[in-house]
Amino acid sequence: MHNDVFVKVDDYIAGIFNAEDEILLSVNKSLDDANIPRGSISANQGMFLHTMALACKARNILELGTLGGYSTIWLARSLPDKGRLITIELEPSYAGIAKKNIDRARLSDKVEIRVGKAFEILKELQQENIDPFDLVFMDADKPHYCEYFIEVLKLSHPGTLIIADNVIREGQVMNPDIIDDFINGIQRFNKLIASYDRVNSTILQTVGSKPHDGMSISVVKY
Ligand code: DHB
Ligand code: MG
Repeated sequence: MHNDVFVKVDDYIAGIFNAEDEILLSVNKSLDDANIPRGSISANQGMFLHTMALACKARNILELGTLGGYSTIWLARSLPDKGRLITIELEPSYAGIAKKNIDRARLSDKVEIRVGKAFEILKELQQENIDPFDLVFMDADKPHYCEYFIEVLKLSHPGTLIIADNVIREGQVMNPDIIDDFINGIQRFNKLIASYDRVNSTILQTVGSKPHDGMSISVVKY
């Protein structure tokens, strides 16, 4: 299934756009050095998120699941001077690594890492009455994607773009009999965004240097 041509084309695209600089490469090295499994998005997926953030002129970005800060850096680099990004990470040791990476990328004035359970932090953010987010990237624990999505909507405005990673998992989501918290969470999520009347959504398959997967893209209705 992991077709060689997809990997080669992914490398070709990353190559012609010179997608990854030293900072981004060092983020994945920091995860390898700490023996953390590679969960970062690919270079081209980062470039995609960056481009989406520019397209919707995002000034306020929310991320669920920081890991080492790889996607955080791609997204934060799209922000204007006064732009802000809040990223939520459950695991304190990952957040510590991400903080170093974000400092090294000179983005610490724009990026705030909040450590804790995403659901609780989403509730906290609602109570803080912060400006709604223009773009949200969901890449946290998959079993709770639906619950996060509902809370994220409360922090959104008409036009907010909500992108979620890992919604295809090499087609495993098509198996109605599978018993797996990860896949079942995604199955519920895909049905939710497909039928929820407050958003228009689609899913893009992602192929290349990472296993075959997908990202959902939802726009909060005007
Ligand atoms: C896993 C999570 C991710 O967000 C990802 O991109 C790849 C794998 C995982 O938990 O297995
Ligand atoms: Mg992911």
